[in-house]
Amino acid sequence: MQATAIAQPNIALIKYWGKRDVARNLPAVGSISITLCDLFTRMRVEFDAQLSADELTVNEMPDAGMLPRLSACLDRVAGPRRSSARITSTCNFPIAAGLASSASSFAALTVAGAAASGREPGVDELASLAGRASGSAARSLLGGFVELSNSDDDIQVRELLTPADWPLAVVVAITQPGPKRVGSTEAMEISRKTSPFYTRWVDGQEQDLATARAAVLERDFDRLSAIAEHNCLKMHSIMWASRPPVVYWNAATMRCLQTVRQLQGDGTPVFFTIDAGPQVKAVCLPEAAGRVEAALRATPGVVDIMSSGLGAGARLEGVS
Ligand code: DP6
Repeated sequence: MQATAIAQPNIALIKYWGKRDVARNLPAVGSISITLCDLFTRMRVEFDAQLSADELTVNEMPDAGMLPRLSACLDRVAGPRRSSARITSTCNFPIAAGLASSASSFAALTVAGAAASGREPGVDELASLAGRASGSAARSLLGGFVELSNSDDDIQVRELLTPADWPLAVVVAITQPGPKRVGSTEAMEISRKTSPFYTRWVDGQEQDLATARAAVLERDFDRLSAIAEHNCLKMHSIMWASRPPVVYWNAATMRCLQTVRQLQGDGTPVFFTIDAGPQVKAVCLPEAAGRVEAALRATPGVVDIMSSGLGAGARLEGVS
């Protein structure tokens, strides 16, 4: 049996950083994100009893490096006695560069893997399965504004607003296209174990979530800007103060922040956020997208720009 699913990456406005249970990949904190519409990962999973082992191609190239993580995810989705699978992934944006490729990949893999094994799990079970593979992946199951919350011994996701409710735009300034040197899973553990700010971060997150949730529900752009930038800078401060320090930014990252500050000074409704990589995501009202894109494109060190609106959650494209 085979199934194909598509999922979009999401950008966290209130960040997930740190795990409360490493073995089960449970986050230490809740998070709020927006799902994008123009970037995507498409995953085809075909179980084949004739295959002796799982096979993976990413953008038509064999990829042995990623395979163990995907195989482990399929074991949980389809059960350990499943047949081997042919996994075909197509992604229209740079992988492992701080653009949430693992979120869209594991959300799509979970949905396709479940369908290809004849299962129809509900969103809670899908979130649990996707989150085990990558914490941020659970958020890409849903569209628009998504909140991920911790429950007693698991996670839950829910949609706060649909894309149509508040159609924000996102402009991504790529300052360095290659894969990052330290992955977010490893960097989170370095932060948890060594950063003097880590406990403060965990303790403060509920307040940030409450502020951002209210701002989203009220569509209060200024309030959302302030809390999202604060939460992002706090997350990076934890990393900078850890041992060894984890610094994802480069000079162009900083220049992009200055560009966003200049735009804000001119009255443009825009704010920045940065994940585990050097790219800057500028979130703005749709009418400002052209201005934001032009200003970031003109910022020295920016090598590419990608723009997107908000989109839907992971979905099946076909099963046979
Ligand atoms: C900075 O979801 O990639 O993007 O669960 O270890 O796979 P794992 O981590 P991952 O971390 C995302 C970190 C972040 C913030 C966020 O998306 O909330």
